[in-house]
Amino acid sequence: MKIVICLCLILYWLSFPVYPFGHSLLPLFSLDPSYININHGSYGSAPKYIHEKLQEYQLKAERNPDRWFRLDVQIEMENLRKKLSKYVNCDPDDLVIIDNVSAGINSILKSLKFQSNETILYYNIAYGMVKLTLQYLSTEIFTQKQIIQIELNHQTIQNTNLLLKKTQDIINKIKNVKLIIFDHISSIPAILFDIESMLKYFHSQGILTLIDGAHAIGAIELNLTKLNPDFYLSNTHKWLYTHRSSCLLYIKKDLQKLIHPIITSFGYLQSFQNEFFWLGTKDYSSYLTISDALDFRQTIANEIDIYNYNHQLAIQAGYLLAQMWNSSILISNEKFISTMNNIELPVIINTLDKMNILYQKLINQYNIFLPMIEFDKKFYCRISAQIYMELNDYQTVGKIVLDAISIIKFLPSLK
Ligand SMILES: Cc1ncc(COP(=O)(O)O)c(C=O)c1O
Repeated sequence: MKIVICLCLILYWLSFPVYPFGHSLLPLFSLDPSYININHGSYGSAPKYIHEKLQEYQLKAERNPDRWFRLDVQIEMENLRKKLSKYVNCDPDDLVIIDNVSAGINSILKSLKFQSNETILYYNIAYGMVKLTLQYLSTEIFTQKQIIQIELNHQTIQNTNLLLKKTQDIINKIKNVKLIIFDHISSIPAILFDIESMLKYFHSQGILTLIDGAHAIGAIELNLTKLNPDFYLSNTHKWLYTHRSSCLLYIKKDLQKLIHPIITSFGYLQSFQNEFFWLGTKDYSSYLTISDALDFRQTIANEIDIYNYNHQLAIQAGYLLAQMWNSSILISNEKFISTMNNIELPVIINTLDKMNILYQKLINQYNIFLPMIEFDKKFYCRISAQIYMELNDYQTVGKIVLDAISIIKFLPSLK
């Protein structure tokens, strides 16, 4: 009996994070101590351990370039795909590593063949690069009529039934929708969509699905076999802690032959994996740090604890700032909040001009970068939570925003 109790106690103790979350983790990162990184979501931040590993790979390449490129890096990348595929639960042959989501989305959209009456749907909250790539396609390859934007508002972004109803109405009108593009976690406003339901629904309609999961891997649990998307992308340098830039591209087996990378090189027509592996001579070190980032995470805590800390901190920070600014949060149902949250700016910020003045003031005078947006007639900022942040960081930023507003309030344009 005593042994059982001891074992239980050890297991209980082992289930705790090795490090406590918050500022005690800051020394593991290279962030400037005077900088509050309230915007981890844009570019991520790799731990010092990852920088060391990056340099090790670069040194290996320098020591014997022929051996590295002709043998070693191929084996390393093969092993990496196997390790990563376990983390996201898919067949290793269904994923490749590429530079970033932009490269992946461009490869997919510029490879797929469309009949002149087939259409692509996307939502107004899509990332700017997606919209511009579609604009390029609509002028260079398709007609404007083939690319249709669906408008979401503060209600439809947090109600999957309403969102699907709105989308279905458009599908009924257009009839021949070939592809729909949507976010797993959108950029700004940041919303965690119920893509499991969305995927089931669109597949039942025979529509191909392209998911921009730029913010997903490392932020939330990702199970690609369960989700079963047609195309899925996620930047590992945002939330998984790899070096920039590195990104996972998953393509369902029967679609792999249809998609080619933007750069054509020696892998052309060999296989999905080979085609995306060799895009000309380049530095693979950032990609290889994916393996080290997965190891690093295990030394910090278990995955669920990392997800939960960031998710809870994003929620708490949202309430705190809304209270400090006497404003509101965009998402009321926590199910739609990931590791980022959207808070309405103080009500005096009620025009785009005022929002831009505040944005510039914060960067130029306070060294604070706070992404901002007008959405559904209100003005919001986006905050990111991360394991090295604590609630008092958001309080500090909240006060800084009030301070900046109190100074610029006296400018004629803000009255
Ligand atoms: C939702 C979303 N999609 C795509 C991207 C593009 O990522 P990248 O610039 O690494 O290609 C971003 C970048 O922040 C994003 O937030």
